[in-house]
Amino acid sequence: MEKIKTIKGIRDILYPESALWSKIISRVDNIFESYGYRKIFLPVIEYTELFTRSIGEDTDIVAKEMYSFQDRKGRNLSLRPEGTAGVVRAMIQNQLLQGNIREKVYYFGPMFRYERPQTGRYRQFYQLGCEVFGSRDETQDAEIAELAVKIYRECVGEGGKLLINSVGCEREECRPRYRQELRSHFHEHKDDLCDDCKRRLETNVLRILDCKTGLCRDIFQKLTHAKSESRENLCGDCQEYLSHYKSRLKERGYEEDKDYFVDIKLVRGLDYYTGPVFELQAKDGFAVIAGGRYDNLVKQFGGPDVPACGWALGLDRLAALCSHEPESKKIPEVYLVYLENVTDLKEVGEIFNPSVGMDNAREEHILLCRELAAKLREKGISVEENYEGGLLGKKLSVANRKKIQWVLIYGVDQAENRTVSIKNMKTSEQDDVSIEDIDEIVKRIKC
Ligand code: HAM
Repeated sequence: MEKIKTIKGIRDILYPESALWSKIISRVDNIFESYGYRKIFLPVIEYTELFTRSIGEDTDIVAKEMYSFQDRKGRNLSLRPEGTAGVVRAMIQNQLLQGNIREKVYYFGPMFRYERPQTGRYRQFYQLGCEVFGSRDETQDAEIAELAVKIYRECVGEGGKLLINSVGCEREECRPRYRQELRSHFHEHKDDLCDDCKRRLETNVLRILDCKTGLCRDIFQKLTHAKSESRENLCGDCQEYLSHYKSRLKERGYEEDKDYFVDIKLVRGLDYYTGPVFELQAKDGFAVIAGGRYDNLVKQFGGPDVPACGWALGLDRLAALCSHEPESKKIPEVYLVYLENVTDLKEVGEIFNPSVGMDNAREEHILLCRELAAKLREKGISVEENYEGGLLGKKLSVANRKKIQWVLIYGVDQAENRTVSIKNMKTSEQDDVSIEDIDEIVKRIKC
């Protein structure tokens, strides 16, 4: 029978990668909490309309990448391609945006996009994201960028490149004018654009700036704005906001062209952004964390006029950069094996307590092992127990395969002497210690 496999672009996260993920998640949880964010868990399935109205009908995500379907009642649903729209929906539905109080939340979970799978790009991928509601202040934009850099540095180390830009606002003299200007410029060079950008020219012209094709980039470079330092493509307010944003970054010790770079080509694949956006790229140029400000989305969904900003981190990408991390402490440190020899055990049982029968002797010894395991766990040592009988050699090779360093052996000899043998799998040294002397056992393991 043909074996059933995972769907293309979707994978299992197995040990030891899973241990690394848990470690990253708990580290990131701590950092978010230290900045006053609270964790929320949201549905993976939402009404399709939530995404079409927020991300934008003409974006690649909505036009080509959503996993959409009808349920048995004919409702149009989609697997979430990102987290922001769901958070906004939840904040409004649960009336959490009252009275202009700043709300900071974060989330973790799988997202789904039907993209072409390649290294670092999956159809089910995981995001850790944060959203801040109720602050229209450059300080907040600087804080979320700083938070992204801090998380990247604590997990990966140095080497992330922070790019910022402003995508402007919907005022006539801002993004609409720029769009128009780009459209006429690219029209003049239409025949030289790649096939994707020919389509983007009609649907979402700003996305051409994001194109990685050399020729499309060259065409953009011919535009005066692409070269100039001034930001004539933005309205006065957006220029001012961008310049204050840079000042707030400076206050936090971020120097332009050293700690961050302004990149006029930085546009995002989601239509809800207004004003500052940023991306934190790894050395290979892949975006690991990305986000920005989206001041109109809450109102657009029928909520109060509350500004917002946030970002999301791709955990699949971040974890791939952390493969240098040592193995998690969650691997059991101790493999506690119980060896039995029925005849001998009966004798040992009789030595301890002549009145107990064979079965009772076995039970007593297993109980003793359980107590030992519980005491070691209380002392912070992780223990995997094996009471299934069988040969010691087999059990040792299991410990080896599982990369467990210490094997505690409790067999007939040990039962007779009230000891346990401690075997160091790295050095093959073995030693006996009294089974009652927990401190000594812990000391040997922790040495
Ligand atoms: P995004 O730029 O679409 O933004 O995605 C954020 C991050 O998710 C990317 O930088 C990347 O690390 C990861 N990512 C995206 N697609 C994939 C994929 N197919 N495979 C692996 N990783 C992927 C958003 O999703 C916005 N909701 C961010 C945001 C939050 N903006 C404001 N608040």
